[in-house]
Amino acid sequence: MKRIGVLISGRGTNLQALIDAQQQDRLGAEIAVVISNKSKAYGLERARTANISTEIVTKKTHPVREEHDKRVVEILKQYNVDIVVLAGYMRLITEHLIKPFENKIINIHPSLLPAFPGIDAQQQALDYGVKITGCTTHVVTIEMDAGPIILQEYVPIFDTDTRDTLAERILEKEHEILVETVQLLSEGKIHIQGRRTKINGE
Ligand code: GAR
Repeated sequence: MKRIGVLISGRGTNLQALIDAQQQDRLGAEIAVVISNKSKAYGLERARTANISTEIVTKKTHPVREEHDKRVVEILKQYNVDIVVLAGYMRLITEHLIKPFENKIINIHPSLLPAFPGIDAQQQALDYGVKITGCTTHVVTIEMDAGPIILQEYVPIFDTDTRDTLAERILEKEHEILVETVQLLSEGKIHIQGRRTKINGE
């Protein structure tokens, strides 16, 4: 079974979706460690409740970006991690993390990429006035939010939506496609061909 390292910064509802799937034997993988760059991230509580090992690497403990990522890699190796999941990890990562886990790092993003990369994609979508947005899982490359896309799900935007109501509806879909992406990746069913990914059985 593949071993997963989950990187978080905040409340960790995506992490919780992975934990729930694992507990219901739907993940096809084991969460080996949860690493947070925020010592007070609520996601750490979720991991502890599920008896999953936690580690904290912050700006304070590792002020130099390169050293920060090297420490994260050290931890991931220590836990024999095969696949890294960025689940609300609000930090740019460097080649020091990407190289050792090339094509093995995935990210969940709350928009239909390539629309609205970066911070607060939900507000960006509202501000732009699009009628449909959604979420994307993708392979992480050095360019932010720009790696090969794995799965996407759409979410309509209603006139009455606020940033929070929209974010809430997108989250429900995020949880679904993130779990599915980890399942597919663990089963070796995702093949990267240039910018495109091919999924076995599709
Ligand atoms: C999620 O909406 C995730 O897509 C987003 O942060 C939120 C984390 O929520 N990530 C990004 O915006 C990355 N650019 P969670 O902590 O409840 O999983």
